[in-house]
Amino acid sequence: MKRILVLNGPNLNLLGRREPEIYGSETLDSINQELRDIAKQHNYILDTIQTNSESKIITILQGAFLNKKYTAIVINAAAYTHTSIAILDSLKLFSIPIVEVHLSDPLKREEFRHFSYISEVAYKIFKGEGKTSYIKAIHAIINLQIQ
Ligand code: DQA
Repeated sequence: MKRILVLNGPNLNLLGRREPEIYGSETLDSINQELRDIAKQHNYILDTIQTNSESKIITILQGAFLNKKYTAIVINAAAYTHTSIAILDSLKLFSIPIVEVHLSDPLKREEFRHFSYISEVAYKIFKGEGKTSYIKAIHAIINLQIQ
């Protein structure tokens, strides 16, 4: 079965309780479950990982690259989006599609959120639609019909 990695960065473990006026009231577990269901309907397996650690994100990406087990990656690097050249470098390992996701629209927020290191390698970017940003990312991958 084809596999998608959904990787979430710092503070996204507190979705539902973290600034709900910006990020919504749904938990990450609940979003991930819905994404898994969508993926399953289309014969994809979804691996969902959240970590607050930049180095863990890099280690996970390196492992994913070496194992070659994913057909695509969905990443919300959260605040590391705006700071991490190291995560960008890890993402550059891949030739599979990388989809960048944000619940909020960083361009409509503080200036320090306007720049994304991830966008350089993103096949598509979905932002500002809450959970729907993730759902659209999964559908974009499914629609590619990667073998
Ligand atoms: C975020 C936007 C980032 O600027 C912020 O640091 C996050 C979440 C989003 O999903 O809207 O933690 O990536």
